Amino acid sequence: MDNHISKVMVITDFTVHQLGILNRMCEHLDHHSISYVIYDKTVANPTSDDVEEAKNLYLSSNCQALIGFGGGSSMDCAKAVGARLARPKKPLSKMEGILKIWKKLPLLICVLAIARTGSETTLAAVIVDSKTRHKYAINDFNLIPDYAVLDPKPTLSLPPFITACTGMDALTHAIEAYIGNLTTKKTRAYALKATKLIFENIYKVYEDGNDLEARSNMLDAAYYAGHAFTVSYVGYVHAIAHPLGGKYNIAHGLANATLLDVVLKQYGESVYKKLYEMALYCGICNANDSYKVGAERFIEQITLMKKYFGISSIFSELKNRIYTNWLFTQIMKPIHYIQFQFYGV
Ligand SMILES: [Fe+2]
Repeated sequence: MDNHISKVMVITDFTVHQLGILNRMCEHLDHHSISYVIYDKTVANPTSDDVEEAKNLYLSSNCQALIGFGGGSSMDCAKAVGARLARPKKPLSKMEGILKIWKKLPLLICVLAIARTGSETTLAAVIVDSKTRHKYAINDFNLIPDYAVLDPKPTLSLPPFITACTGMDALTHAIEAYIGNLTTKKTRAYALKATKLIFENIYKVYEDGNDLEARSNMLDAAYYAGHAFTVSYVGYVHAIAHPLGGKYNIAHGLANATLLDVVLKQYGESVYKKLYEMALYCGICNANDSYKVGAERFIEQITLMKKYFGISSIFSELKNRIYTNWLFTQIMKPIHYIQFQFYGV
């Protein structure tokens, strides 16, 4: 950390704070005589009110740098606080879209304690407007953190269900980056690597949270997937998950995990070849299989994964317990006309 910094603000959520996951980092800060204030009120889908509250605490405490600690919500909240500090006269709602900040943020460090987000590498922060519940992305190169810390030890305390949902969010990042129309050779390679790592390690971390090697592999996977979708973007799974998160406060990882196989089926033959390639790379199908068979086996593995983790295809938050399949077919038609969705994590 820069020598002139003597006080930092740590932005995290209540669960991460209560589980004591911050302790090791705080000990290091104490050791280096860096004082800190902790904002632990970040919620699953961080709101504009959260950001304002944290920003005011930052200013009243005379902090000099931001540490987003935990999952994507904490990192997005830290990024948005940084944006408001850089642009104090510009409300968050005016930053929606692309390149609306254009000013350097305070030093921003992201410590990944949940293997999913990729937010530690991206230029995006996703925020929910507190009044309207509109969920939107702010995208600016100044939001890319100065430092990203990938340390598996903080993730050891994560409960299995959160581990599963956040891991499936990272899987969604990788798959959507791969099947989209804006891929590059590099992002395809990152997406494949991330997907294989997740299939190989997500059950291990679910069954044994203390498996340090598997935890480390999941962090690497989230990082590769984050790189992939930063360039190649995400797709319809996120396009549906984001408004569900904004409107019903459904946790982002759970929303994506619930939707992933359902939405992939709805893509139909347009993604058979790409899903076949992913299945082949991960050892889920054989080279002799047709594209259709490879794609179906790939999706089937995701469905089995969901069942194993106890993730259903129903959003209980929705009235009348509307099945996701129905929801998707209703939403899919208008979405077909949207050629390009620019969303963050
Ligand atoms: Fe995501």
